[in-house]
Formats: sequence, C-alpha cells, structure tokens
Amino acid sequence: MPTILTVTNLTKRFDDFTAVDAISFSVERGEIFAFLGPNGAGKTTTIRILITLLAPTSGEAKIEGYDVVRHPAEVRRLIGYVPQMISVDGMLTAYENLMLMARLYDIPFRERKERIQEILKFLDLEDHARALVRTYSGGMIRKLEIGQTMLHHPRILFLDEPTTGLDPVAKQNVWDHLLELHDKFGTTIFFSTHNMDEAEDVCTRVAIMNTGKIAIIGTTSELKEKTGNSEATLEDSFVFFTGNSLRETTNFREVRSARRAERRLG
Ligand SMILES: Nc1ncnc2c1ncn2[C@@H]1O[C@H](COP(=O)(O)OP(=O)(O)OP(=O)(O)O)[C@@H](O)[C@H]1O
Ligand SMILES: [Mg+2]
Repeated sequence: MPTILTVTNLTKRFDDFTAVDAISFSVERGEIFAFLGPNGAGKTTTIRILITLLAPTSGEAKIEGYDVVRHPAEVRRLIGYVPQMISVDGMLTAYENLMLMARLYDIPFRERKERIQEILKFLDLEDHARALVRTYSGGMIRKLEIGQTMLHHPRILFLDEPTTGLDPVAKQNVWDHLLELHDKFGTTIFFSTHNMDEAEDVCTRVAIMNTGKIAIIGTTSELKEKTGNSEATLEDSFVFFTGNSLRETTNFREVRSARRAERRLG
C-alpha cells in the first residue's frame, strides 16, 4: 500500500525542553492508526506539526509527498483535523457551524447547501441541524466536528482524543461514523487516545509515544508479543513500554476535559 504520511527525525523543542525527540515513522493509505502515550508524551505537539499549525525545530514530515513546512497549502487541502479541545461554536446552530467552515474551506457557493445536507444526513444530525450547538450532547458535538472536516473530502483525518469524555454509546456512535467514512471514501484515520480498548477495536497499527520518543510501533499483536508475555493485553504493553499506569491519568483527564467542554459551551 502506498504511504500517505512520512515522518523523519521530527523534533520540536520549546526553549530547552524537547517535546518531540527525533521521531520517525510512516502511515500507509487507508490505515486506522492509533497514537497512544501518557500525558505530556508529545502526541498533540506531533499532530499540530503534521497539520501545519506548528513549525518543527528540525526534521521533516510529508503528506502525500508534500512537505508540511514548505507546502502547507497543499497539505491543508489533503487533511482534516479534529482538535483535543472543542472546535465548534456553541452559540451557532450545526447548520451555521458547517456553513462557516464551508466558506472557510472555499467550497463553491452552489455546492455548499447540498454538501452540508449530505453531512448532516451522514451523521444523523438532520433533526438537530437548527438547534444551537450548546444544547448538544458531547457525542453530537464530536460528530459535528467530524462533519466540519468532511466538507472538503480529506484524504487523511487527524483526530486528537476524539472520544475522551463520551459515554460508551456516544463513543460507539462516533466510531461507527468514522469507520463508515473510512470504508466509503478510503479516508486514512490518525487518532490519539488514552483508551486501549478503542485502539484495539479499530486500529490497523499503534504507535506508543513516551517522553517525546516513539517507544514502539506495530500491530497490537506485535506489541503484545514484544512484551514477552503471551497473555498480555494492549494495556499491559502500554505499561511495559512506557512504565506508566493508565487509570490514574485517564480518570483525571476525563473529568478535566468534560469540565472544559462545559465551560466552553456555557
Ligand atoms: N507551546 C508550548 N510551550 C511549552 N511547552 C509545551 C507547549 N506545548 C506543549 N508543551 C509541552 O510539551 C509536552 C508535550 O505536550 P503534548 O500536549 O504534545 O502532550 P500529549 O501527549 O498530547 O499529552 P496529553 O495526553 O495530556 O494530551 C508537555 O510537557 C507540554 O507541557
Ligand atoms: Mg494531547
């Protein structure tokens, strides 16, 4: 399978702190690639470089052969991005949020309405299209954010913790739609998560990042094998390769992120 993303010795320093430390890896077209790692590992920083929002200190990243530093406009046409923080406006309706993005992405005027209707239908949000987004549940907000990135038909979608803070039903619903997007349009999916079950359920491969480096990369079964324990779970592998326990960090984070979401949407 052809490669869609190539990262070579990518490094990001903030003053004398190295957040991303000479990482190299690649992602094939059509993969569902999970990006794991404890808090502060450098996942969001890496994603922000890949989507052209942050300049690397050194090294290189290319999407479909386009360098993220030298050809940001080309890269932006190929990607979609759902950030860790909420990226829709609670004081607008879903329709208005999508229209705003359609204008931002330069979707031709005549196509906008139809494209938006298609997306609302695809995400089962048609009945709520005219409601203010501040009345939405967390799962509906996430779906709308995914919808925003679908407007320009991206080849690769970057999602930073797409399901953090969602209940299991909403989580499943978000993934059903992401998988449909993947199956229908061949969209490559690159997502970060703290949820091992989620990674295990959907991904083709996993990279575990720790203190700025890629600790290990491979399929979930390769990772488990490398721990030397034939009965290892993905969570065991995570602990093995990072030395971090998972539960303590995620519980705190889920609460924090849910609170942030509440604050943002008033
Ligand atoms: N703009 C910045 N200036 C200084 N330090 C930063 C900046 N952005 C990130 N960092 C630091 O870089 C490190 C990596 O942060 P990053 O947000 O990439 O981690 P992460 O893996 O996404 O963590 P989490 O799971 O908590 O989201 C952290 O120590 C963070 O404090
Ligand atoms: Mg992050």
